[in-house]
Amino acid sequence: MSKILIAYFSQTGNTKKVAEAIAAKTGGELADIAGPATPPASDLSAYDVVFVGTPNWAATFPPQVKDFLLSLNLAGKKLAVFVTHGRGGLGNIPDDLAKLLPDADKTEVYDGNLPDGLDAWLAAAGF
Ligand SMILES: Cc1cc2nc3c(=O)[nH]c(=O)nc-3n(C[C@H](O)[C@H](O)[C@H](O)COP(=O)(O)O)c2cc1C
Repeated sequence: MSKILIAYFSQTGNTKKVAEAIAAKTGGELADIAGPATPPASDLSAYDVVFVGTPNWAATFPPQVKDFLLSLNLAGKKLAVFVTHGRGGLGNIPDDLAKLLPDADKTEVYDGNLPDGLDAWLAAAGF
């Protein structure tokens, strides 16, 4: 069975809620990017799949999420990014992610404001 990390950045709880829903459906381990329990990037070797949850800030990632993504050694792993937002949708996040990590094995970016799509996205990602 895949070992799954669900790392999220959430100041007002929206992204955390989606992370928790993904954890409930996949059995993955939750980690707050801004909290002390985040496994260091060097410690990701145990995981096959890394979900990263982020709010849309000014149409892109918060700097904390960008730094976290850049710190990951994703060789041999799948990256699955999900986003929550106000009214701006995914903004530039899919494009910015493609530029930031062009070689990563990535799923489509998921719009966490559309909870009805979660099961289909997880199925497309192989869960
Ligand atoms: C600094 C800042 C910038 C934001 N910029 C956008 C934006 O450009 N587009 C958008 O749709 N929502 C924007 N939002 C709203 C957040 O993306 C939205 O409330 C998100 O769900 C917050 O996630 P959280 O509760 O996990 O922190 C912004 C919020 C903050 C705090």
